[in-house]
Amino acid sequence: MSAIVNLPITDWQQPFSAELQDQAIRALEHGDVLVFPNLSFAMSESESQFLSPSIIGKSKNVSFDINNGKLQGSSVDENATVLLQQMMHRYAVFSKGLMDHLFPQYQQDLIQSRTSYRPLEIAGRTTSWRKDDTRLHVDSFPATPVQDKRILRVFTNVNPTGKPRSWRLGEPFEKVAQRFLPNISGPAWGARGFLNAVGLTKSLRSAYDHYMLRMHDSMKADLEYQATVDHLAYEFPAGSTWIVYTDHVSHAAMAGQYVFEQTFYLPVAAMHDEQQAPQRILERMTQKALL
Ligand code: SIN
Ligand code: FE
Repeated sequence: MSAIVNLPITDWQQPFSAELQDQAIRALEHGDVLVFPNLSFAMSESESQFLSPSIIGKSKNVSFDINNGKLQGSSVDENATVLLQQMMHRYAVFSKGLMDHLFPQYQQDLIQSRTSYRPLEIAGRTTSWRKDDTRLHVDSFPATPVQDKRILRVFTNVNPTGKPRSWRLGEPFEKVAQRFLPNISGPAWGARGFLNAVGLTKSLRSAYDHYMLRMHDSMKADLEYQATVDHLAYEFPAGSTWIVYTDHVSHAAMAGQYVFEQTFYLPVAAMHDEQQAPQRILERMTQKALL
C-alpha cells in the first residue's frame, strides 16, 4: 500500500538538498504520497469571497489554464473574475515552483496542464458511478488520452474551518492490475481513429489509455471490491499540500471541501525509473507494447 511521506516545509519556494530530492523522487515514483503538512496556500481577504460553493455554475470546479489564461466553470461577475484568475494563476505558479525545487530532474519535460479549484463538499454529492470519486480508482479520463505520459497532481486543502480532506488509498497498482486486467479485452481495431474523428477524444486513445480507462471503470463498478479491498484512510489536514501520481495510486476522496489541484503530465521516458510507470507495469503483464 502507498506510504505517506511527510516533508515539513512551509514555503513554496524552499530549496531541497540533493539527498532529499533523491528520496522524494524515489518515493513518488514508487507510489507513495508526499505530504507537506505545513504548506498552505494563503488567500487574501478579498479572495475569501471564493470560499463558497455558489461561485461555480453547473460544473464541479473552477478550472484555469496557465498556458492561455482561460478560466472556466465560474459564475462570478466580471470584477471577481479577474481576482479569481489571479488566484488560480498564483496557485499554478506556486505548485510549479514546488515541483521545480523538489524534482529538478523533471523540469525540462514537465507539462503544466489545468489548475482546478474545488469549492464543493464531496460527501453526499450525487454523480454517476463513473464520475464518483468516492470510489477507489486510478485516474484515467475518457476524453483526454495521456498516451505515453504520467498524471502527476499537487493538491492543497484550503478549508477555512479546519476540515480535512479525507481520502482512501487502495492496494498497490500491481495488485489492482492483477485483479482487473484478466477481464479486460484489448482495444477494438479502428476504435481509436473513430473516437478521435468524431471528437470523443482530444487525441488518439492509445492501447495504454484503453486499459487504464477500463481499469478505472472496472474498479468503480465493482461494489464488492469497493467494500472489501484493503485500504488506508488518510485525512489531509486543512492547510496542507500533497503530491501524488494519481494514475498509479488507487485513491478515493470521501469528504472535504475547498481544495486546489494542479495537474502535470510527464512523459514516461522522463522518469527517474520508468519501469515503475503503470504503462511499463501493464506492458510486462500483457507482454505487449501498449502504444
Ligand atoms: C480524485 O482525484 O479522485 C479527487 C481528489 C480530490 O478532489 O480530493
Ligand atoms: Fe482521481
